[in-house]
Amino acid sequence: MKIGILTSGGDCPGLNAVIRGIVLKASIAYDIELVGIRDGWRGVVDGDFFPLTRHEVKGLSKVGGTILGTSRTNPYEGPRGGAENISKTLYGHHIDGIIAIGGEGTLAAANRLAGDGINVIGVPKTIDNDLRGTDYSFGFDTAVNIASEAMDRLRTTGDSHQRCMVAEVMGRHVGWIALHAGMASGAHVICIPEVPLSIDEIVSLVSKAHDRGRAPLVVVSEGFTLKGMDEAYSDKGLDAFNRPRLGGIAEVLAPEIEKLTGIETRATVLGHIQRGGSPSAFDRVLATRLGLAAADAVHDQAWGKMVALHNTDIVRIPFEDALGELNSVPQYRYDEAAVLFG
Ligand code: F6P
Repeated sequence: MKIGILTSGGDCPGLNAVIRGIVLKASIAYDIELVGIRDGWRGVVDGDFFPLTRHEVKGLSKVGGTILGTSRTNPYEGPRGGAENISKTLYGHHIDGIIAIGGEGTLAAANRLAGDGINVIGVPKTIDNDLRGTDYSFGFDTAVNIASEAMDRLRTTGDSHQRCMVAEVMGRHVGWIALHAGMASGAHVICIPEVPLSIDEIVSLVSKAHDRGRAPLVVVSEGFTLKGMDEAYSDKGLDAFNRPRLGGIAEVLAPEIEKLTGIETRATVLGHIQRGGSPSAFDRVLATRLGLAAADAVHDQAWGKMVALHNTDIVRIPFEDALGELNSVPQYRYDEAAVLFG
């Protein structure tokens, strides 16, 4: 059997660990031949494949990014796209199936291709941790660690100057990174997309912390909206999916906080630093286990399924379990953290 592996959508620490897990298990335990697919679905559509052996994946679990490259190509678009063309391309290269590692868009495309008769196995990926169907996705723990370390640094400089520091983290639709990094670093306010706040509510918590002699730390997700805002702040145009490129809400909040409190306030946008570099040990283990399980699923020909973390087990689930609704921060988790605000 010959299987192609692709990574698609935004990259994420741990992608290489998944690839290594798949290649090692599939080649050693099952004698399956692997090929890498370059740049996500773009490589499937264009037939851009290269051999992937133990040699190519050695030492990879600790390496950030993806050796396969990634893109936001939709496999149903373009003259060579669509299930029929893809099926012919795969057949021409003697490829029996695909393991697709990606987020919601990638898994939705994988599900549609599976419905159209292509052999696909999915592996969930997102630093935002916004996919349902899996308890955690790899990349999230690394992003939280990077963000928490950055907050610790912001707090020491904030303390020196008695400033309010506003730190913006990723999180387009959900606030998991902000919630966890904010809790880990003792933030005085956490602002997430699921819970709009007014500027007065934020300012009151900032002032409360300042009055206790603390240099306030405000952690905000890029997708947070102030009460009254219709959509998340964006001033950088659209991405390849025609979604607004987010980033910059911290720069909106900081001058408002300074104006309303009189406390000197600075904004820091962490951005793609959260997606780059080496995965945490937790993410390396999770990603490797998902890779091993994806190889098992191929061997069992469990096409049309994806692998996921349930409690401490890696299980197989239908794509639908991860699609549709997002894995949002429940109100009780926000309320739990909010007890520590101010
Ligand atoms: O979906 C993950 C994510 O990190 C979002 O939080 C963010 O909005 C987006 O990717 C940014 O992606 P890019 O700048 O690579 O298009």
